[in-house]
Amino acid sequence: MNIIVVKDSIAGGKKASELFCDACASGAKVFGLATGSTPVTTYQYLVKSKIDFSNCISVNLDEYVGLKPTDEQSYRYYMEKNLFEFKPFKKSYLPEGSAVDPEEEVKRYDQVITANPIDLQLLGIGRNGHIGFNEPGSSFDLTTHKVALTPSTIEANARFFENEKDVPKYAYSMGIGSIMKSKSIILEAFGENKAVAVAKMIEGPVTEECPASVLQRHANVTVIVDEAAAAKLKK
Ligand code: F6R
Repeated sequence: MNIIVVKDSIAGGKKASELFCDACASGAKVFGLATGSTPVTTYQYLVKSKIDFSNCISVNLDEYVGLKPTDEQSYRYYMEKNLFEFKPFKKSYLPEGSAVDPEEEVKRYDQVITANPIDLQLLGIGRNGHIGFNEPGSSFDLTTHKVALTPSTIEANARFFENEKDVPKYAYSMGIGSIMKSKSIILEAFGENKAVAVAKMIEGPVTEECPASVLQRHANVTVIVDEAAAAKLKK
C-alpha cells in the first residue's frame, strides 16, 4: 500500500483529484466512485480541474434501497449535485434504489460491473472498517448484494437525514470481490473518528471483521489520510 499523509481533507481532495487526472491522461476510462462526506473535496477539485469525463464511464459503489434518484438523500442525487452536473460522464451507473425486484437489480448491477471493468476505484472507509456497504463479517468473495446496514452505520449516516429513523435500513452494495478487481484503488480517510479503522486496515490482520483490511492483498492501492486519521498508525 502506498500511504500518503496530508494535512487535511482539502489537501487530500487535491491529491486524489490529481491522481484522477493522471489516470485519465494515462487512458483510464472507467471510474468507480463513492459518496459520503469523504470524497466531497475530491469532487470539488475535479469540478475545478480541466478533466473531461465525457468519454468515460462511472460506476458507483452503492445506493440506499427504497430511495428514488430524485430523493435528496439518494446517492444518485449526491453524485448529480457534487460531480455529474459539472463533469458529465458518457454513462453513469448506480444501483437503482427504487428497483422493484432486488434480485434482478443485483444481477443487473453485476452485469454493469462486468461489462465495465474499473480502472480506478475511489473508496471511503466506515468507522467500523466497511468499504462500500460491505459491513464487518461480509465475505471477501461477494459481488453486488443487498445488505442490512449495521446500527453503527445507520447512526453515522443519520447526519444526512432529518431523523435517524429516516435512514434506510438496507442498501445495494458492490461486493468486495468486485472492488478487488479494480485495476487501482484510492482510499481516502479524514478525521480522528477514522483513525482506528485506518490502523486496522493497514497494520491489522487481513480479516473479514475489518473489510478494508482486504486491500492489503491488492497490488495497487493508494491510501490518502489526513494527520488525524493517521494518528493511530505505528509505523
Ligand atoms: C459511500 C460508501 C461508504 C463511505 C463510508 C464513509 O459510497 O461506500 O463506504 O465511504 O461510509 O462515509 P463518510 O465519507 O461519510 O465518512
